[in-house]
Amino acid sequence: MSDYHIKTLEEYFKVYRSSVDNPEQFWGNLAEEHFVWRKKWNKVLSWDFSKPEIKWFEGAKLNITENCIDRHLATRGDKTAILFEPNDPNEAAQHITYKQLHERVNQFANVLKDQGIKKGDRVCIYLPMIPELAISVLACARIGAIHSVVFAGFSATALSTRINDSDCKMVITSDGSYRGAKTIDLKCIVDESLEKCNCVETVLVVKRINSEIQMKEGRDKWLQPLLENASTDCIPEIMDAEDPLFILYTSGSTGQPKGMVHTTAGYMVYTAYSFKNAFQYTENDVYWCTADIGWITGHSYIVYGPLANGATTVMFEGVPSYPDWGRFWNIVEKHKVTQFYTAPTAIRALAKEGLELVEKYDLSSLKVLGSVGEPINEEAWHWYNDNIGKKKCPIIDSWWQTETGGIMISPIPYVTPTKPTYATLPFPGIQPTLMDENGNEIKGNQADGRLCIKFPWPSIARTIWNNHQRYKETYFTAYKNMYFTGDGALRDEVGYYRITGRVDDVIIVSGHNLGTAPIEDAVNEHPAVAESAIVGFPHDVKGNALYGFVILKDTGESRNQDNLRKEINQIITEHIGPIAKLDKIQFTSGLPKTRSGKIMRRILRKIASKDTSNLGDTSTLLNPEVVQDIMDNAH
Ligand code: PRX
Repeated sequence: MSDYHIKTLEEYFKVYRSSVDNPEQFWGNLAEEHFVWRKKWNKVLSWDFSKPEIKWFEGAKLNITENCIDRHLATRGDKTAILFEPNDPNEAAQHITYKQLHERVNQFANVLKDQGIKKGDRVCIYLPMIPELAISVLACARIGAIHSVVFAGFSATALSTRINDSDCKMVITSDGSYRGAKTIDLKCIVDESLEKCNCVETVLVVKRINSEIQMKEGRDKWLQPLLENASTDCIPEIMDAEDPLFILYTSGSTGQPKGMVHTTAGYMVYTAYSFKNAFQYTENDVYWCTADIGWITGHSYIVYGPLANGATTVMFEGVPSYPDWGRFWNIVEKHKVTQFYTAPTAIRALAKEGLELVEKYDLSSLKVLGSVGEPINEEAWHWYNDNIGKKKCPIIDSWWQTETGGIMISPIPYVTPTKPTYATLPFPGIQPTLMDENGNEIKGNQADGRLCIKFPWPSIARTIWNNHQRYKETYFTAYKNMYFTGDGALRDEVGYYRITGRVDDVIIVSGHNLGTAPIEDAVNEHPAVAESAIVGFPHDVKGNALYGFVILKDTGESRNQDNLRKEINQIITEHIGPIAKLDKIQFTSGLPKTRSGKIMRRILRKIASKDTSNLGDTSTLLNPEVVQDIMDNAH
C-alpha cells in the first residue's frame, strides 16, 4: 500500500524522501491505489520547464466525477456529501447525500447537453454559494465541459472580460443572491456584461431570491423546469488525463487576468491526497472551508478534494457578520464542524469583535484549524489558537496559489509541530527552494530568498488560457528550470518555511530588503491596531522609505495619534530594527481590498508616492470609496 495517509512525523519524512527520490513511483502508486481509472496511464510524468510542458498520467482515461461521486455510492450513498448552510439562519440547512448529489449532477449534466454543451466547451458559472454552484461545476466535469467559475462579487466588466477571454458558450447564474441583510441582482450584472460578449448562446438561471428579472427571449432559461424533465442518469464523458478540467482567473501584477488552466488527472490526485493529509480527514468528520467556490480554495477544498475522499463538506452562503459576528461559531456548533479552514483577514475581523460572541458557542467539535491566502500575523495566529482552537487544535498555515492547484507547504496536523506564522514543511512531492537576487539557489537553512519549486507536482496549472507565452514568462523565465512563485520566503534553522509576501511588495530601504509582512506583523502587535498595510515611497536619502496605513480598533476612547505613531515605531524597532521604522503613519478607517480580501497595495503605493493621477483599474475593489478618503488624508 502507498502512504496515502500520513500519521506520524517519522512517516512524513519517509514518505517525503520517497516522493523526491522516486516521484513517478510515488505518484503512480498513489494514483493506482486510490482512484478509479477507465484506462491506466502509459507514463506517470513527462516534463520540460523550458517549454514549459508538463504532463501527468499521460494516456490515462477517467472522469473526475466518478471519483468524486459514483464510487462512493455503494458505501456512502446516504452520507451527506454537501451540507448547505443558507444565509438566513432560520432557513433549514440542506443535507445533500452522495446519492442525491449523483442524481442532481446527472440531471444538470443532461440539461447542459440538451442545451448543446459538448466536451471542451467553456461554461461560465456566476453563482452565489448555493448547492447549484457545486452541482454545476460537477455537471460540467461530468460531460467534459470546461468550467470557468467567476466569483459572484465581480462586476459586469470583470465578468465580461473573463467570458470573452475563454469564449464561453453558456453562463449559469441566478436571479440574485443573499449577502447578509442585502440581496444582489446577479442577473442584472450578467445582462450588463453580456452586452459586451458575442459568444454566449444560453443563460441558465437558478431561482434563489424570487425577484422579478428580465429574461431575454431565446437566450435566458429558468433552470428548474429543464431539470425536472432531465434524466437522473448521465454516462460520464471519458476524459484524457490531460484534458482541461477548468479555467480559473487570477489577477496578475499587470494586465488582463490570467486564465489558469487545470487539467483532470493530476489535479484530482493532488487535491484528494493533500485534502486527506492537510486536514487529517476521517470518515465521520464535518469539514468546513469558508472560502467561496469562485476562488481556487473553493474548487480544490470545498468541491474536488473533499468529495474525492467521500467527505462531508459544508457550503455556507452567507457572511461572517450576519446576523452577527458569532455566525461562524454558531455554524461550528450547529453542525459539529471538525475541520475549519478560513483566511487571516477573516480571523482578524473576527478578533476585533470581542470574545462574547465566541464564548457563547460550543466549539469542542473542532480538531483542526486552517489558514490560507495571505501570511497570518502572530497576533491573529495566537487569537485563533487560544480562542477558537482552545490551544488543542493544530493550526495549519497552508501556503499555495491558484496556479499550484493544491496546498504546497503546510503543517500536517498532529504530525508536524507548528510554529506561529510558519507554513512549515513541503507536502510530499513538493520541492521548494529559495533563490537569491542573482539567480543562485540558496542552500542550507536560515535563508531568505525567492520561493521557487524545482520539480513538477500533479496539480500545477498547465498553461494560461490562450496565452502560453505569458505562462512561460510569468512563471518559468525568472529562474532557469524552476517554477517561480512570486513570493518571498524564509527558511529557519530546521528548514521550516515562512512565506513573507509577494516579492513585488519587497521594499529596499537604505539597501536593506524589507518584507512588508513582518513589519505589518509588528505593527499589528500594538494593542490599538486592527490592521495595517505598509508600502514604499521614494526617499531622497534612503532610496525608499516606508509608509504605513493603519486601521485602529474601535475602542471608543480617543488616543493621541503622535504617541501612537511613536509606540508603533518602537514595536517595529523591537521586532525588526530601526531600519524598518515607518517614516509616515496614516490612520485610516479602511484599506482598499479586492473582493477576495487582499489589500490592493498598488493603490497605496501610488498614494504614498503622491502619484495619484492614474490609480489604474479599481473596478475589482470591494470598497472603492476608501480610496478617496485615504487620498484626502495622505501625507
Ligand atoms: O502570496 C501568497 C499568498 O497568496 C498568493 C496566492 O494567492 P491566490 O492565487 O489567490 O491563492 C490563494 C489561496 C490558495 C500566494 O502567492 N498566500 C497564500 N497562502 C498563504 C499566502 N501567503 C502566506 N501564507 C499563506 N499561508
